[in-house]
Amino acid sequence: MFAVPELKILLSHEQIAKRVAEMGAEISRDFAGQPIILLGVLKGAAIFLSDLARQVQLDLNFDFIGVSSYGTSLGPDAQLKKNAGWDSTGEVHLTKDVDQSLAGKNVILVEDILDTGLTLNYLRRRLLAHGPKTLRIAALLDKPSRRKHALEADYLGFSIPDEFVVGYGLDYAERYRNLPDICVLPSTPC
Ligand code: IMP
Ligand code: MG
Repeated sequence: MFAVPELKILLSHEQIAKRVAEMGAEISRDFAGQPIILLGVLKGAAIFLSDLARQVQLDLNFDFIGVSSYGTSLGPDAQLKKNAGWDSTGEVHLTKDVDQSLAGKNVILVEDILDTGLTLNYLRRRLLAHGPKTLRIAALLDKPSRRKHALEADYLGFSIPDEFVVGYGLDYAERYRNLPDICVLPSTPC
């Protein structure tokens, strides 16, 4: 058992499961009779995607895309600076591209959290160049108060306050992704 510091649960695994099931039902209704591709953003969206995919009653396949942004590539200090709003010059780089053509497909980009909007704005522009039939965004979490790039999720799990959260795929310096609940990390992490 690894030691977990005092983490306050913001969203329990029961709340998450209920909301993810609702999102899956909504996607199933919107794309009834059509195949879709869920495209997860590594690594944070991996757990959300695996639960969401099982709640969608459609002909579905999934793929992953990898990005590194200012913050995650520079370690925990930079990640906290990023969260504190120091990332206005942020850049996004692709670390893994999709493995298939998205031309003419119904694509849903699946992301753990929509923060400033930098990452999804970059990915949306890049993926639109493939010529998909539709491109939608499913985000588990949204911190609307932090937005710098105008962008909204088409399918949203929860809107949350401006706090740093971990668990259910979300990390701090690569830790805590395996927590079943989404928790607020205290400002001085252990
Ligand atoms: P954006 O590009 O500023 O929208 O940031 C999106 C990315 O920042 C997410 O995919 C996460 O990797 C990371 N991120 C933003 N807020 C948090 C948080 O509270 N906890 C963990 N990661 C976060
Ligand atoms: Mg992420």
